[in-house]
Amino acid sequence: MRVGVLTGGGDCPGLNAVIRAVVRTGAAEHGFEFIGFRDGWRGPLDGDTMVLDVNTVRGILPRGGTILGSSRTNPAAESNTADGTTGIDRVMENLDSLGVDALIAIGGEDTLGVASKLHEAGGHIVGVPKTIDNDLGATDFTFGFDTAVNIAMEAIDRLHTTAESHHRALIVEVMGRNAGWIALHAGMAGGANVILIPEKPFDMDQVCDYVEHRFRTRYAPIVVVAEGAHPKVSAEPTADGGEEVDAFGHVRLGNRGIGQQLADEIERRTGKEARCAVLGHIQRGGTPTAFDRVLATRFGVHAIRAVADGDFGSMVALHGTEIVRVPLAAATAELKLVPPERYAEAEVFFG
Ligand code: F6P
Repeated sequence: MRVGVLTGGGDCPGLNAVIRAVVRTGAAEHGFEFIGFRDGWRGPLDGDTMVLDVNTVRGILPRGGTILGSSRTNPAAESNTADGTTGIDRVMENLDSLGVDALIAIGGEDTLGVASKLHEAGGHIVGVPKTIDNDLGATDFTFGFDTAVNIAMEAIDRLHTTAESHHRALIVEVMGRNAGWIALHAGMAGGANVILIPEKPFDMDQVCDYVEHRFRTRYAPIVVVAEGAHPKVSAEPTADGGEEVDAFGHVRLGNRGIGQQLADEIERRTGKEARCAVLGHIQRGGTPTAFDRVLATRFGVHAIRAVADGDFGSMVALHGTEIVRVPLAAATAELKLVPPERYAEAEVFFG
């Protein structure tokens, strides 16, 4: 059997661990051959491939990024050609002409959404859930999230001491376009005084009350804000006005985003100095934590076993401590957001 592998969407620590586990398990347990597709869905769309075998995956377990490359190419958004061929048709044709019997797509909501469409079109696809945002339904955790949280937590630990030395408020902007999981976990782990997430529009007066309360102790406030958080008055995540969008229609966040706006507003309202640190892609780079290496490896082992069983249209997922298979469609049906009761646990420590 010849199995294709691709990694799509934003990169994420642990992608290489999945690729290694897929190839090592497939070769050892089933004698499968592999073919790597470059740069997410662009690979099968353009027929751009690379060698993928046991030798290629040696030494990659601790490496961040993805040896296959990634992109946000969306074949479903490719316009029809004169003969009525769609991007999805082109992918199907290329898989066929390359002799690919099955494809493992490692990605988040967008990548797996395309995987689901290909499955509906008759493709033999198995999905692996990936995103530092941890916002995919049907799995308790995605790999990459734990690494991002640990990076953000370490940054918060460091910002506490500089904030205290200068009697400043420090605003830490973390990733999380629609879901505040990174902000919630990193903020709790790092002892933040305020955590702001997209799921709960915030009240600026309340934020300033927490900041001033913290200044009345001998410590300085740390505000952790997810990039997609927004005040009660505005319903949209705050972009910097450029409105640059990717192939899936997402506005690019982060340049003078909500973190800097909060710092400006806190200075204006409280008269205290405030600084903003945007962690950005630092959260996505570098080596995965042990938790993510193990989760990614287990996902890889179980994904290729799903291929061997012919269980196409499925995605591997973590339920408790077990790896299970769920329908691809279930993973992308709705985003997994932070529930109010989880936020309420963190709120106890605000101010
Ligand atoms: O989806 C993962 C993610 O890291 C989001 O948290 C973030 O909004 C987005 O990707 C950034 O995308 P890009 O790397 O394309 O700027």
